[in-house]
Amino acid sequence: MSIKKVKVIFRFFLYLWGVGLSVNSLYAQNVIPVPVKIEHGEGVFILSEKTAIHMPLKGEEARLWENYLRALPIRLHEGKGGGNAITLLIVEDNILSNSPESYTLSVTPQRILIRASSGAGLFYGMQTLWQLAEPSGDGYVIPTVEIEDAPRFAYRGFMLDVSRHFFPKEFIKKQIDALSFYKINRLHLHLTDAAGWRIEIKKYPLLTEIGAWRTEANWKKWWNGDRKYLREDNPEASGGYYTQEDIRELVDYARERYVTIIPEIEMPAHSEEVFVAYPQLSCSGEPYKNADFCVGNEETFAFLEDVLSEVMELFPSEYIHIGGDEAGKMAWKTCPKCQKRMKDEGLSNVDELQGYLIRRVGEYLNAHGRKMLGWDEILQGGLTADATIMAWRNEDEGISAVKSGKQVIMAPGKYCYVDAYQDAPYSQPEAIGGYLPLRKVYAYNPVPDTLTEKQAELIVGVQANLWTEYIPTPEQVEYMMYPRVLALAEVGWSAPERKSWTDFHARALKAVDDLRSKGYHPFELKNEIGSRPEARDTSKHLALGKRVIYNAPYHEAYPAKGDVSLTDGVHGDWTYSDGAWQGFISKDRLDVTIDLENVNPIHSISADFMQVVGAEVYLPVSIVISISDDGVHFTELENQSITLDMERAIRFESVSWKGEAKGRYIRYQARASKEHGGWVFTDEIVVK
Ligand code: ACM
Repeated sequence: MSIKKVKVIFRFFLYLWGVGLSVNSLYAQNVIPVPVKIEHGEGVFILSEKTAIHMPLKGEEARLWENYLRALPIRLHEGKGGGNAITLLIVEDNILSNSPESYTLSVTPQRILIRASSGAGLFYGMQTLWQLAEPSGDGYVIPTVEIEDAPRFAYRGFMLDVSRHFFPKEFIKKQIDALSFYKINRLHLHLTDAAGWRIEIKKYPLLTEIGAWRTEANWKKWWNGDRKYLREDNPEASGGYYTQEDIRELVDYARERYVTIIPEIEMPAHSEEVFVAYPQLSCSGEPYKNADFCVGNEETFAFLEDVLSEVMELFPSEYIHIGGDEAGKMAWKTCPKCQKRMKDEGLSNVDELQGYLIRRVGEYLNAHGRKMLGWDEILQGGLTADATIMAWRNEDEGISAVKSGKQVIMAPGKYCYVDAYQDAPYSQPEAIGGYLPLRKVYAYNPVPDTLTEKQAELIVGVQANLWTEYIPTPEQVEYMMYPRVLALAEVGWSAPERKSWTDFHARALKAVDDLRSKGYHPFELKNEIGSRPEARDTSKHLALGKRVIYNAPYHEAYPAKGDVSLTDGVHGDWTYSDGAWQGFISKDRLDVTIDLENVNPIHSISADFMQVVGAEVYLPVSIVISISDDGVHFTELENQSITLDMERAIRFESVSWKGEAKGRYIRYQARASKEHGGWVFTDEIVVK
């Protein structure tokens, strides 16, 4: 060992001593997801260019590992497992829990030994090793540990929408590096949608000559604008796609890191871009008219099978995702071909017509040795095909799928949609809405308590989804992904009893620094603002627990806690869907009377409102607050107008009256703008 290195290591120990930490507690903070079992020992292993690596691997595994080792930040030479060596051993049986991804990692000051029954297990042992390693001088120091580890779920996924905004191949590789570092093993690419078709299909070149290019680079501008497509060779065209060569390169790159790329080809909806290229596949037969494929047309099936055939050629993934979400199905109701199909097949409604398409496509995939994966709407219309359900609308969709015997990947919006704001919206770049802080992703348990052990086995995994409508740049993709995807990684890998929010939060803070040092652009967790201040405590006021009379109803989709909601002392957080905000869409929007039971002196009356332009939730434009002794004759206290500012994507406002008054009944009315319509949301009427 060089003098320099000895000095560095000495300084390192001095540092640890100085801050009163043991080596082990410092290092253990680095590992995400937290392993099943860690036992700490004494001393450290010094990893340097002198360290030998001994890998008695064969065939494909040996080739993958040679590629992988070339990409490491330090050159390791091949040698026998003598002094200062890392040995990677394939063993016959899984280390733990029947999972081929399980591994053991044993570090002593003399040697490192990783054992697993598969290359994936060795790879994960190696990721844990790198997370434990602290740079020191020309190499790394690694604490003495014994680790046994295995994943909770076989499927640990992340979805990236490359349609709304296209992201280049090299950027996808960079994310595969990070995802695999945190033991995520599936990358689902949402390759097709109205905003752009992103994969070359040889048999249908117009998909990428036209369907991949649009008039505006920015999705929001395009969607709120002309929604038109341009030819690839038009200098004004914005977009892009992966050639088949690119896809092969990505698939290989991912495979070397034990990540399977799952392609998604959307059907029957979200397909406007297809009909600009091939209008005959829609019910109208014209471009710019439909979003759904015509299910009555045999050519639709020929097209889908041809496309899927090329897709299967490119992607070895067992799962092929066929979308299936949010079909409008309107044109099907009057399309002669669709109507004929329904008659011929004895289908009684358009849900069953969707079911027909899903079944046929599923059978095609099955016949080619693949499994169909689809969003939870594929259960509508009686799903008979063998399929795995990706539950996104809420957990209940996953639960009903499990109860009908289907395998499920849980990705409910409430916990897994990382396109939502991760901090106070006013502090963040514009996002689609919602509020999903790191803590909430971390709190997710993909196996609901209501399931039996047998049913729980049908939940094969969990996935975070990043839709990119409001995410125009690669930097912003990373900002939305990290560190929330790390929380998802721990949800997917770690045993529930090993999870601890406080502990994870400390590790995530370190991981954010680590990601930044590697050139990623994570959210700065240490500056997190957190929940809406009003939402942190319940408030005490005169109307607390008092009866609310609804002169206009709240909407059944957003009842919050029902009739008690506006006087329960509970304020909502940064999203209207958190169960504390009540939603109004009837003609009169908010119109309630609160009965205080006695005549009281009153000094202030206020309510909070929110605006989420993308969700058509707006501030009210007029507020009337009045008071009465008898509930019949009201005196107006306040009549306010509010000017809507549609440029403010997210806005919270408190609208109040202050003064001196007396009364028993308080009436609060809030009207929507006639021009914009939309929802009004409020969470509490505070009377003091
Ligand atoms: C989805 O978010 N529409 C699957």
